[in-house]
Amino acid sequence: MRLPNKTDIIKKTAFEKRDYMERVCSADDRIIAALDVDSFEKMESIVEELGELVSFYKVGMELYYAEGSKTMEWLHEKGKQVFLDLKMYDIPNTVAHGISAVSGLGIDLITIHAGGGRDMMEAAVQAADEAGRNNGRRPKILAVTVLTSFDETVWKETGGLLPIESQVFRLAKLAKECGVDGVVASPEEAKGIRELCGNDFEIVTPGIRPAFADADDQKRIATPAVALNNGATRLVIGRPITKAEDPKKAVRMILEEIRENKK
Ligand code: C5P
Repeated sequence: MRLPNKTDIIKKTAFEKRDYMERVCSADDRIIAALDVDSFEKMESIVEELGELVSFYKVGMELYYAEGSKTMEWLHEKGKQVFLDLKMYDIPNTVAHGISAVSGLGIDLITIHAGGGRDMMEAAVQAADEAGRNNGRRPKILAVTVLTSFDETVWKETGGLLPIESQVFRLAKLAKECGVDGVVASPEEAKGIRELCGNDFEIVTPGIRPAFADADDQKRIATPAVALNNGATRLVIGRPITKAEDPKKAVRMILEEIRENKK
């Protein structure tokens, strides 16, 4: 056997370097960075800074109510995918029209409340199907089951009868039956939902904290790799990226972690 010579070592190092760069320099649409800001300028500055490293962004109530649809138009111009998190909850007709209105903005994911019931969820799915037929871009509908801010006391106070976890599974199953594309769930709930709803179902998890990040106000957290191994399809990550001293470095570390932990 020939011992590796200097050229072999240099070549291997160069290969490893390229491999590393490929792993940490291209965006992964399983990572959705949360744009929890109140102005267009702040959004712009985050997205410009992250550049090619992030391809998917979440626009929530704060940014959407402050700046409206121009946020979406701008993100599209930049070639980004958009998760519009407005957690719609109203009578079926109103939710369907809401979905139709925002679908015109070309969004990729949108949230509704599963607690709105079968008719509401089916109306939302029909509106998304129609938008897909009309403009060739069908947004996926995600259902929120029970907000993670509920604990058993608050849950009972509002009339909840089942334990929260049972209610989460019950609503996830109902959402699947209604043709909803997936749910937003905690990393802990992801495993059970995956078993119950099968593989063809999005599970989008917030509450993600890479090992290097603070928990902030999140109580039930998981690392990106654990959430994906539990069955999550996408991770919503806010402060660990946007409030990091070096946001690009934070994304690279997350990319490295999730690409090394393939199932
Ligand atoms: O900064 P952080 O990573 O905690 O942000 C998580 C994002 O996910 C925020 O936009 C937050 O509103 C959202 N979210 C959450 N927990 C839920 C649902 C949504 O943290 N149960």
